[in-house]
Amino acid sequence: MVWLFVQFASTILLAVFSGIAALCASRTYLAPTKGKLYSRLRLSLVWMGISGLVFLVKVTAVVVLAASDEVFVEDKVTMQLPMLAFPAAAIVLFSIPAARKIRAAAAKASKEPPAAQDRLAAASTGWLFPVQVLFIGSLLSVIQQFFIAQWPLKIGTVLAVWLVYAIVDYLLWIRQKSRYRRFSEAGLPDTGTLAVRLSRKGGVLLTVVLIAAVWFALGAQASRVPERMSMAGHEHAHTGGTASQFVSVADLTGPQTGKADQSFILEAKKTMITLPSGERKEAWTYNGQIPGPELRVKQGDLVEVTLINKDVDAGVTIHWHGVDVPNAEDGVAGMTQDAVMPQQQHVYRFIAEQAGTYWYHSHQQSSKQVRMGLYGIFIVEPDGAPPQKTADMAVVLHKWQTESGTSVTLGELNRLQHKTAEPGTFVRLRFVNAENILAPIYISGVPFQVAAIDGTDIHEPEDLTNARLDLAAGGRYDVTFVMPDTAVGISRQIGPFVQDGNVLVISPSNEGMPPDIIKGPVFDPVSYGTPAKTKFGPDTRYDRNYKLVFDNRLGFYNGKFTFVQTINGHVFPDAPMFTVREGDLVKMTFVNRGFEDHPMHLHGHHIQVLSRNGKVVAGSPWIADTLNAAPGETYEVAFVADNPGIWMDHCHNLDHAAVGMSAHLAYEGVYSPFEIGSATVNLPE
Ligand code: C2O
Ligand code: CU
Repeated sequence: MVWLFVQFASTILLAVFSGIAALCASRTYLAPTKGKLYSRLRLSLVWMGISGLVFLVKVTAVVVLAASDEVFVEDKVTMQLPMLAFPAAAIVLFSIPAARKIRAAAAKASKEPPAAQDRLAAASTGWLFPVQVLFIGSLLSVIQQFFIAQWPLKIGTVLAVWLVYAIVDYLLWIRQKSRYRRFSEAGLPDTGTLAVRLSRKGGVLLTVVLIAAVWFALGAQASRVPERMSMAGHEHAHTGGTASQFVSVADLTGPQTGKADQSFILEAKKTMITLPSGERKEAWTYNGQIPGPELRVKQGDLVEVTLINKDVDAGVTIHWHGVDVPNAEDGVAGMTQDAVMPQQQHVYRFIAEQAGTYWYHSHQQSSKQVRMGLYGIFIVEPDGAPPQKTADMAVVLHKWQTESGTSVTLGELNRLQHKTAEPGTFVRLRFVNAENILAPIYISGVPFQVAAIDGTDIHEPEDLTNARLDLAAGGRYDVTFVMPDTAVGISRQIGPFVQDGNVLVISPSNEGMPPDIIKGPVFDPVSYGTPAKTKFGPDTRYDRNYKLVFDNRLGFYNGKFTFVQTINGHVFPDAPMFTVREGDLVKMTFVNRGFEDHPMHLHGHHIQVLSRNGKVVAGSPWIADTLNAAPGETYEVAFVADNPGIWMDHCHNLDHAAVGMSAHLAYEGVYSPFEIGSATVNLPE
């Protein structure tokens, strides 16, 4: 949302402009001539004016943001705005009239030295101090914004920031006073030799550097993930009851006996692949393919997958993204199993209960391993044969990191691909976003429908023409249409279909090109399709209400200082643990007050989206497992706690998860015997 950026930019600009204003103002009294005094005062007034305007912009942004959720503004209202408003008012009341008065006594372009009392007036604390305090307030605002970004806001934090503000202002006041006294008594601009002054400045600098260094060292140390720890939360495992009352994650398996309806073997291995550029590259694959083999099963099948790790050194797992499997089959290293190391194997068994489009990927070092190729499609077909001739194809979006940059793929590697479908065929395209960011998808040449989101059918979808589909990272859209006599094109950008484009063309007989992609409306699930019966409505009473605030700041993750993406102010392992009891109706509110998209993915459950930015979902029920919260957006979602275990609830921008954007949903009475940390093999993110 634009006001989020306006607020942020105005905070930074205010620090810069008020700093210039303070600098100008503090130096006016040194002016050698009346003319210089005049122009310096004018310059100070100009910068004060600019700062004032920026401050008003900031206030406007805060007011607008406050209307969407108080989470966006609580730190501004309790700290930033008052710390700025006091000096701003004082500037209007005292500084500006005083500066004007002195300026009136000075004269434009005069070479005469200023009168002693004018100089004295220009050095007086009364008018300078508010300008300096405005700068201090805006500097603290920037620091608070970049380093603290806490939620919920603690009263102690607010008091600490105010205390710093008061102390710094007080010191400044004393310094300014004594300066003025020395100046009025001796008429000297500043006392002490250059050496003394420099050492004084150096002392201040040294103190600041020392404080920063201590803070840095302590912060880095405290953020280190221990050698061994339970991801499921240390406290959690000990909240009452005896060990015998607890259920181990490892026991929450799928059916252990019975003949599988479908069995697959997936072998993880290092594989050399050739990119379209001709570049050879090591990839990590399941069965030597990228994407891994497409696994198709029928609804209700007992599925058995044997994962063998041939030679992926760090170990691998398989997570069934979007499939609500029993907890032990979820494939999260360090949480539901240990990573499968080279020469080891692991068997997953579960019943494919819901038809739809899903995918699978390694959940060991997932940000790295998915990028390297350890992912594939998992399709659960509805029971019974399709009613008409169907062309059913999966289209995976993935990005390769190569030495020459990134190459984006649409299904296969970075070139125009042709597929054929006879006119009249019912086409189902299953889009899977295996990337880290929201992916735009365009379709030209035919009106189409979004038939399903994240494996759940849309109720009575309508035809869309030229609509842009923004697919969340980790999310899936099923698009359907009846094949026309002419070519249909799928692209990731606006423009014509070219040979070396990242495009897919479906035509009846491998000839003809689809019409160029033009800019159309953005598909919006909030108002698509028609309402149907759902589990949750406006009258639902929830057993649990959780709020998740996404934000960003500078901070530490596992000993490293980086730009972190936070959930309720924290990164893993301090990110929240949401506790539920089996059968609970749970409501979650997402508020994204940071600057990046966060495609939140809850394992083991499907969420019903209730509202976005206060707008209730008015079309078909919108059920998802991966929901993209864009900057400035708020979502209300709900789910039934009906799948006991301990589940990840993390950002599917896997690079964010890799720097700690990962929380958990834990059922009471469940514990995990698995651990993460440098002394274990497990690195889930
Ligand atoms: Cu697709 Cu936790 O992941
Ligand atoms: Cu994120």
